[in-house]
Amino acid sequence: MAFPAHMKPWDVAVVGEIYADHVFSGFPAWPAPGEEAFAERYKRELGGGSVNTACGLARLGRRVRLVGLIGDADFDWFESRLAEFGVGMGGIRLGTDGTGITISVSMPDDRSFFTYAGANRGLPDLLDVPAVVADLCAARHVHFAMPLGRELAQRILPPLRHAGCTTSIDVGFSPDWLRDPTNVATCREVDLFLPNATEAAIVAGTTGADAYAAWARATGLVRSVLKLGADGAWYVDAGVAGHVAAPRVDAVDTTGAGDAFDAGLIDALLDGEPLERCVQFACVSGALCTTAAGALQALPHSSQSRTLRERTYGS
Ligand SMILES: Nc1ncnc2c1ncn2[C@@H]1O[C@H](COP(=O)(O)OP(=O)(O)OP(=O)(O)O)[C@@H](O)[C@H]1O
Ligand SMILES: [Mg+2]
Repeated sequence: MAFPAHMKPWDVAVVGEIYADHVFSGFPAWPAPGEEAFAERYKRELGGGSVNTACGLARLGRRVRLVGLIGDADFDWFESRLAEFGVGMGGIRLGTDGTGITISVSMPDDRSFFTYAGANRGLPDLLDVPAVVADLCAARHVHFAMPLGRELAQRILPPLRHAGCTTSIDVGFSPDWLRDPTNVATCREVDLFLPNATEAAIVAGTTGADAYAAWARATGLVRSVLKLGADGAWYVDAGVAGHVAAPRVDAVDTTGAGDAFDAGLIDALLDGEPLERCVQFACVSGALCTTAAGALQALPHSSQSRTLRERTYGS
């Protein structure tokens, strides 16, 4: 069914990888091979960029469709946790491999991750299902929190454009995707490609905001945004570049800051704000997300976001 823009049931469809995160912390030292180490703390939480960005957008008051795959054993847990953010299960399908899992092990000075992709391996096939494409077309904006393969992008982006959807992509740290020159066309075809500094350096083949700006210009990206961690973000809009400093916050845990940044950015774009203000809202959302442990705990409500944006950048 085709919807006129003002009648679309979703503001944003967020599609991508979904994980069950198991976070272990409080170890005295790494175990040697064959040894066992006991964590002082353990937390289980929903994870994956798509979940984080979907929950961030819902916290900001948007009607969000989360599209992805989990295993049926986790359905009730996902349903109740997502409901706390106002995100439903209607766009989630049950895969055969069980929910993707990330085990995060925090040591005093570093963290390591062990990941099993599980049901997420079915994502490319899922995006070829006509009912799923129709679901995405029913949103004003579609955000891909996944490395969208080139052939799939060529199949799915035209119908979304035809349905009047704007689009964005955050592929996360996906070196193979970022190194593959065929994906440059996808960066150009979406409305916003949203890398962090490490990812931008791989795709552009060189480091630094100026080098990325040159790459973006040569590639034909009309609008471009680059996440710079505690240094905020950089953007270019029709040839005009600017830097937005990050708000000062007491950062506790930066997990998911980039996904919260994406949520703040998309929310402001849907309000028709100019790109510089969108990036300010994005930085505020990313910064506030860092003020508590985990990616979901400190996602801001709209009023918090507006207050900190004004206090940081003025009206
Ligand atoms: N320490 C911090 N203080 C203030 N703002 C921060 C801090 N860290 C991150 N941010 C905000 O969050 C945004 C995204 O952070 P970052 O550049 O780390 O993204 P990322 O590497 O994609 O994160 P993720 O781990 O979620 O993928 C930054 O552009 C900045 O606006
Ligand atoms: Mg990121």
